[in-house]
Amino acid sequence: MKIPVTIITASVLLFTQSVSASPAVDNLLKEYSKAGAGPFSAEAGQRHWTKAQSHDKSPTERSCSSCHTRDLNNAGKHAKTQKPIKPMAPAANSSRLTDTKKIEKWFKRNCKWTLGRECTSQEKGDFLLYIQKTGV
Ligand code: HEC
Repeated sequence: MKIPVTIITASVLLFTQSVSASPAVDNLLKEYSKAGAGPFSAEAGQRHWTKAQSHDKSPTERSCSSCHTRDLNNAGKHAKTQKPIKPMAPAANSSRLTDTKKIEKWFKRNCKWTLGRECTSQEKGDFLLYIQKTGV
């Protein structure tokens, strides 16, 4: 039996879209995989998002949700400066997860602030899947 090429193409597109909807996220996940990380898990990302930890520079416990809240559809607030932060979920804020440079810049800063170190490629991939999943 011959299966029309259009059907195959359509299902491949559907598949890639359900895994990941943002080209920026796709590119970063590819990079992290090349660095040896993966498979990535939205569930692990969610667990890490709220996991409170202390470290050398902070005796008080910190987590990603300290600033971004536990619900990515909510607006957040900077734990130190009190400045408002727009929601992380792409569905609530369409500029999210569109710019690889911006994502990497904030991963670097926020992981250092929260964990006292940079995040691993595995952790970043998990976070991206989680953020993307809650929003699309
Ligand atoms: C001290 C407060 C604070 C903490 C804690 C924090 N962030 Fe952020 N985050 C920010 C601010 C401020 C921005 C940039 C402003 C904005 O984009 O609204 C930002 C932006 C981001 C972005 C950019 C998303 C995009 O595409 O616009 C990502 C990704 C991110 N944070 C992930 C994390 C992760 C993962 C953690 C936990 C390891 C974390 N953040 C913890 C304050 C924080």
